[in-house]
Amino acid sequence: MIDLRSDTLTLPSDAMKEKMLSVKLGDDVFGEDPTVNLLEQKAASMFDMESAIFCPSGTMTNQIAINIHTQPGDEVICSREAHIYNYEGGGIAKNSGASVRLIERNNGLLNHEDVLKNINQDDVHCPRTALVALENTSNRGGGVCYSKDELIKIKNVCVQSKIPLHLDGARIFNALVEKKTISKISR
Ligand SMILES: Cc1ncc(COP(=O)(O)O)c(C=O)c1O
Repeated sequence: MIDLRSDTLTLPSDAMKEKMLSVKLGDDVFGEDPTVNLLEQKAASMFDMESAIFCPSGTMTNQIAINIHTQPGDEVICSREAHIYNYEGGGIAKNSGASVRLIERNNGLLNHEDVLKNINQDDVHCPRTALVALENTSNRGGGVCYSKDELIKIKNVCVQSKIPLHLDGARIFNALVEKKTISKISR
């Protein structure tokens, strides 16, 4: 039977479990876990980043990123449907002391006009807009994903406004397959 409650119910296959038992391990604090090092290098190279850091869960990844990009009192722009807002235990407030600027869209995808409209002016009355957070694919949107064109437009708004852009990429590879961009990154 296929359990459709969530894709998170998927269990590792026997081949995956065998691989886990046979890989080389080490102390990651000293940068000496060859498997973690390989994974981080691979992720960085796939996404054209200087470096990557392995985090064992999606929630931890999001919360660390939000914390790095914000100061207490700042505001994060995200969808009303975003996982970071709905399903991370209020972590944006608790861990980072930041508030959210929610954009109401049924499918959880933002567009560059929305993002631009919701960036606060430099005004002492307003919280500083410190981060734009996207989710691709959108979980509560039922798996819909961004076009590359819209992502570039949102990125451009962020660059012009000097605001970092965070991606919750819990299902980024699904989005890449759907938009046929997977072949452009090395496997
Ligand atoms: C969009 C999105 N972000 C983050 C997470 C959290 O991932 P984790 O369960 O690994 O903390 C999920 C989990 O399904 C998710 O759907």
